[in-house]
Formats: sequence, structure tokens, C-alpha cells
Amino acid sequence: MKKIDVSISYDKVEEQELTPAEKSLLDAARKATYRSYSPYSGFSVGAAVLLDDGTIVEGSNQENSSYPQGICAERTAIFYAGSRYPDKKILALCIAARGTDGSFTTLPVTPCGGCRQALLESEYRQKSPIKVLLYGLDEIYIISSAQQLLPLAFQL
Ligand code: THU
Repeated sequence: MKKIDVSISYDKVEEQELTPAEKSLLDAARKATYRSYSPYSGFSVGAAVLLDDGTIVEGSNQENSSYPQGICAERTAIFYAGSRYPDKKILALCIAARGTDGSFTTLPVTPCGGCRQALLESEYRQKSPIKVLLYGLDEIYIISSAQQLLPLAFQL
């Protein structure tokens, strides 16, 4: 038997360290939280996707009384990008969230497993990495690609 360790790496940054493009993407993700439909969880998530022509596409979580029918903010954004701009590459994705008290989470919100798989599909499709920015009031993480977020991912 051989034990194999898999590790991921990411950067922890301050908001002042973000490039102007990253800052615009963060602003779009934060704004998108105000368009969340989340009466069941009270957790308002916003996502923004930067395309290779500079277009920013936003999405928010959209819940349903039949809970599994709801969809996360990042999948809303990447599926919209894929259907509206199928030939454009996604350069980066940013996620932000506010809790029931209305304020942004102190720690970054990290994508669920299903969204990681969906994001990875976009990377495979466009054959280039998608940078992932995860926002929190106290910490911001930058991950160089979706692949980092899902080691040993399923692939056909
Ligand atoms: N949610 C997202 O939109 N993105 C995430 O990365 C984590 C969770 C949503 C799903 C649900 O509407 C609410 O947050 C609570 O789980």
C-alpha cells in the first residue's frame, strides 16, 4: 500500500492588493448579493464572472420551496455565461455572501461540491484555468484554478 497526499494551495490577500480588474469583479459579486432570492436560508450569495473580453456576468442564489430546486450563485453565473457567451472564456469568478444580519461574512464563502464540479467543467470546456476569488470581510482567498478546488475530480 502507498499513501498519497494531495494538497491545494491558494493566496490569502488584502483587498488593497487586488488588481483593478479583481476589485471590479469583487464589487460586482458584492452587488449581486442584493439580488439573491434566499427566503429559506437567509444567506444571500453573489457571484461575478469575468469573461475574456472584459464582460462581467453576475448571478445570485435562487432558492425554491422545494429546496433541491434552488441553485447556487456561482452556478447561476457560470451557466448564464455559458449560455449567453458560449465562445468566450471565463478568466475569473468571485463569490461573496451576506448572512441574515445583512453583513458580509467575515470568512470567505467557499463553493459547494456541486459548484466545484460545474466550475471544473467550464475549465475543461475552455481548456484554460479559471481564477477563483473568495471574499470575506476579514480574509480574501485567491485560488489559481478550479482544479485546485477539486482534487481527484470526476471526469468522463
Ligand atoms: N450557496 C451559494 O449560492 N453558493 C455557495 O457557494 C454556497 C451556498 C447558497 C445555496 C443556498 O441558497 C444558500 O446558499 C444556503 O446554502
